[in-house]
Amino acid sequence: MQSSINSLRSLEQEALQDQQGRKFPYLRLSVTDLCNFSCNYCLPDGCLDHHHSEALTIDEIHRLVEAFTYLGVEKIRLTGGEPTLRHDFADIVRTIRQVPGIKKLAMTTNGYKMDQRVTGWLDAGIDAINVSVDSLDPRAFELITGHNRLREILTGIQKAFDHGLPSIKVNAVAMKGINDDELDVFLEWIRDYPVSIRFIELMQTGNNQEFFQKHHFPGEKIQERLLERGWIRKVRSADAGPALEYCHSDYEGSVGLIMPYSKDFCNDCNRLRVTSLGQLQLCLFAESGIDLRDLLQRDDQQEALVARIRESLKLKEDRHFLDQGWTGGTQSLSQMGG
Ligand code: 5AD
Ligand code: SF4
Repeated sequence: MQSSINSLRSLEQEALQDQQGRKFPYLRLSVTDLCNFSCNYCLPDGCLDHHHSEALTIDEIHRLVEAFTYLGVEKIRLTGGEPTLRHDFADIVRTIRQVPGIKKLAMTTNGYKMDQRVTGWLDAGIDAINVSVDSLDPRAFELITGHNRLREILTGIQKAFDHGLPSIKVNAVAMKGINDDELDVFLEWIRDYPVSIRFIELMQTGNNQEFFQKHHFPGEKIQERLLERGWIRKVRSADAGPALEYCHSDYEGSVGLIMPYSKDFCNDCNRLRVTSLGQLQLCLFAESGIDLRDLLQRDDQQEALVARIRESLKLKEDRHFLDQGWTGGTQSLSQMGG
């Protein structure tokens, strides 16, 4: 497809900014809401909807990415559901790679068949991977995800390193009574391994209320344990997102803490989300999305698309209201990839 950006020349080029002065160089783009895992905190009954065939096409994705880069987006993360379930996943990666202005193209995956596929993802142009590993104990891993696939994921991580990826982020959702006793196992793993583990505080969504009540484990407790073990909070870089980063001189790897319930979590929000059906989500916990899909159909709609995105940003709230149990329209994070 030809570049559609020419039609934008008449517009003033100015990076996106909201009413609070936050900038948005980072877009998380879900390319499917289908997932083949059934993580207990997300999709305990597996995927019920089958929107796969209705997801954005490559041409629509291309126009979307061009419009967002025009508005200052430099980093894109492909998410799902599970993004690699799309048969054209590598084509999506190659297409986005060609858009001028994209400095970083990342993906989040559950690691399914990562051992066989990761070199293909990297060759297509992925340059950062987040993979979910909620437990390093194969039985607990299976209990959480519904799949006995820990080994193939760990092999996949090693293959990514062997193929030249300098670091990998591993997401682990902290859950009371399920994996909250594994901190030291995770830390031991990264003593000589350049993995950055992100401990994510379990978030309440529309469909996990009971689970949340039972298993929510406060991020502050992880923070306390890290400090007791001599981990030190890193100085935040100006473009850092909401994760708090920790390091330790005895360890090759690092730790990030994602504490969505902490007071200032939203102050550093630097990301926007688009669902696989082309809805712009201003927040993980927004009540509803803003449809962009009708403006992704032709190259000559780019100007209107840019204008709609700009206009929508005026609606972005200061923060979410999760601490008051308000989960907006978000039933599970598989709708927009976390
Ligand atoms: N709370 C916290 N993290 C979640 N994720 C999915 N659902 C939740 C939730 N309710 C995380 C997954 C994955 C990322 C995409 O989002 O662990 O790593
Ligand atoms: Fe799938 Fe990710 Fe949800 Fe697990 S957390 S069920 S891998 S979308």
